[in-house]
Amino acid sequence: MKSLVILISGRGSNMRALLEVKPPVRVAAVISNNPKAAGLEIAKKYDVETAIVDHREYQNRKAFDAALAKKIDFYRPSLIALAGFMRVLGDGFVNRYKGKLINIHPSLLPAFPGLRAHEQALENGVRIHGCTVHFVTPRMDHGPIIIQAAVRVLPNDTKETLAARVLEQEHLIYPEAVRLYMEGRLKLSGSHVEVSNDTSENLVLCSPELHK
Ligand code: GRF
Repeated sequence: MKSLVILISGRGSNMRALLEVKPPVRVAAVISNNPKAAGLEIAKKYDVETAIVDHREYQNRKAFDAALAKKIDFYRPSLIALAGFMRVLGDGFVNRYKGKLINIHPSLLPAFPGLRAHEQALENGVRIHGCTVHFVTPRMDHGPIIIQAAVRVLPNDTKETLAARVLEQEHLIYPEAVRLYMEGRLKLSGSHVEVSNDTSENLVLCSPELHK
């Protein structure tokens, strides 16, 4: 049976959304680099195995990446999902899991990669903001796009109000991307992702707010 490993560093709300994906996916483990990540407690409530690979215990990124890869490989997952995982992963690590490592980022990539995505959106006066699930490549917050969701930017938005509306969409598209992957419907074709049997217009673009 196909299985998923989720990597977190903090709150774990996207992880929770993945734990509730329907039909359920076997989550082999939730791994955190941060022993205090709140998401670890949530995972335990769902009876999911948890593990910690604390980056502070390793001399450099390469050593940390190697320890993390060893832990991941122990669970032999079909897919690895970064869900608020706040460590930069080295090229060797990323290439090792090419095509089976995905991430969610709170912007409509390629706009606003990196930290402060919501602030960047507000600073730039965009009318539409959102979130993206993509395959991970060595270039941070880039990589073939699987699914995106868009939200309106409202005149009085603060980074908090905007982040909250985007987060609601994150919780919809991340499980959807995992479901598509597990059903074998995602195919990497260069820098693009082909979705097979894509009969629904909304499958890879979620824009409920735009229709209001
Ligand atoms: C989310 O906004 C995600 O897009 C970004 O980090 C945040 C993590 O939140 N990569 P949570 O831990 O999933 O609640």
